[in-house]
Amino acid sequence: MSDNKDKLKQRRSQAWYGKQDKDGFIHRSWMKNQGYPNHAFDGRPIIGICNTWSELNPCNSGLRDLAEYVKRGVWEAGGVPVEFPVMSLGETQMKPTAMLFRNLLAMDVEESIRAYGIDGVVLLGGCDKTTPGQLMGAASVDLPTIVISSGPMLNGKFKGKDIGSGTDVWKFSEAVRAGEMKLVDFMDAEAGMSRSKGVCITMGTASTMASLVEAMGMSLPTNAALPAVDARRMTLAHMTGRRIVEMVDEDLKFSDVMTKESFINAILTNAAVGGSTNAVVHLLAIAGRVGVELGLDAFELGSEVPLLVNCMPSGKYLIEDFCYAGGMPAVLAEIESLLQPAKTVLGGDISAYHDGAECYNRDVIRPLTEPLKPAAGLRVLRGNLAPNGAIIKPSAATQALLEHEGEAYVFENIEDLKAKIDDPDLPVTKDTVLVLKGCGPKGYPGMPEVGNMPIPAKLVQQGVKDMVRVSDARMSGTAYGTVVLHVSPEAQAGGPLALVKTGDRVRLSASQGSLDVLVDETELAARRANWQADDPHYTRGYAKLYIDHVMGAEHGADLDFLVGKDTRLVTRESH
Ligand code: FES
Repeated sequence: MSDNKDKLKQRRSQAWYGKQDKDGFIHRSWMKNQGYPNHAFDGRPIIGICNTWSELNPCNSGLRDLAEYVKRGVWEAGGVPVEFPVMSLGETQMKPTAMLFRNLLAMDVEESIRAYGIDGVVLLGGCDKTTPGQLMGAASVDLPTIVISSGPMLNGKFKGKDIGSGTDVWKFSEAVRAGEMKLVDFMDAEAGMSRSKGVCITMGTASTMASLVEAMGMSLPTNAALPAVDARRMTLAHMTGRRIVEMVDEDLKFSDVMTKESFINAILTNAAVGGSTNAVVHLLAIAGRVGVELGLDAFELGSEVPLLVNCMPSGKYLIEDFCYAGGMPAVLAEIESLLQPAKTVLGGDISAYHDGAECYNRDVIRPLTEPLKPAAGLRVLRGNLAPNGAIIKPSAATQALLEHEGEAYVFENIEDLKAKIDDPDLPVTKDTVLVLKGCGPKGYPGMPEVGNMPIPAKLVQQGVKDMVRVSDARMSGTAYGTVVLHVSPEAQAGGPLALVKTGDRVRLSASQGSLDVLVDETELAARRANWQADDPHYTRGYAKLYIDHVMGAEHGADLDFLVGKDTRLVTRESH
């Protein structure tokens, strides 16, 4: 009994609601206008439900309902749920790019958690940047934290066939440009692609991050793939609510779960599921917050891991199929021998997440002995064109182009690309290396998903489907091609990418992990002496703060002053 009393005294929320003075009166009284009874403030865990629901973020549009199931679980376990909104980042809706605002969401999450009297947090996210943004913010406060994701939409349907978000959009759009698809069919495909609430149905960034969250033990098992509208996701939300209350009692914090071993498991899993290249910047940024030394080279750990999940864009199925085939428990069972022991939100080891798991469709989730591709992880590239690194996803590339040397054709920025890419006289061949500058974190700003630049129209008409493309941008997790991304330092920060000119020879070797421009150092130095950064696109507000403080892709493009955490309790009052 005395143990329990001590626990209540130490509970964070009691610094708000446990005081028998003017401050305690104010904190409790205003909350009571929502009908909370006295016993809600008697020391039981107050659980923040951090919700990214928004009608401007269709991928997260189911989260308002899902939060109600979390609340049921919290009440049932003896806690008090309090839902609060944070900024929502609708990947397909925001300009110039949702990634510009990932760090702003992270600040919103961090400061909301810190400022309010809560003991534990449930993160409700889904769309690409919402999961990492919420994790980054929560990491910097380090309370007991658990994730429940939106879940994927149902499979897309068009003319009797399954179609996948993103991946098929790029294909349809190229087909229209090549005159192989009628515009009316293109328009029809829109409605069939997005048939329910939920996130993209390919192994894009949303499902990648949900898969990695499960592999890191930050959600309950099966969270990654249950469709948004599947009743089992509502049950999972209920159980998530129950579990966070227990986590508060156990004082099982974010940093207890998100250890170096968990990040390594995420890197291995990202390879096995054919996950998004965006996982690199997000994992690096989260690691920076929680104080785990990761670094870009850690992603090489996944380079020899076989591709097991046969989902677009690396394979042919969709996330609903992945769920019915066994989802993440089946994948984790398959790569069991590679995984590091690591704690999860259940308090035990990650092995509990695949104990007894079975696979129900061996074409969707392949056995380790018969993978879809033998080595699926990302390759880290370095060289005189990317001294701080760049990445490529070989599983989504044309194998013959992974070792390639060709003449560069340079687009100075995105406007230059848009103006020229369909010019019938563009001096390019299938062997040209397309180079795009000005799309890094500072340059665009926000490091948009434009790295998979379109194939020039004149080459599309010749039947060219892929070329080597190099930029400081990211690409959508649903995209594919021989695309070198995240070149660092970026052009706008004065990286060597800024010095490349049309006609220079560029050499890519995925097997050697190298990316070079074949121009001698004296010439590069002369070009550097004449180089000037472009004027920044924003001179005020958050975007200016971002441009002034964003770090390179190899640091996850977090803001320099947000790295690390501050777990101190705020003691000053507003009244
Ligand atoms: Fe939101 Fe893909 S656009 S998950």
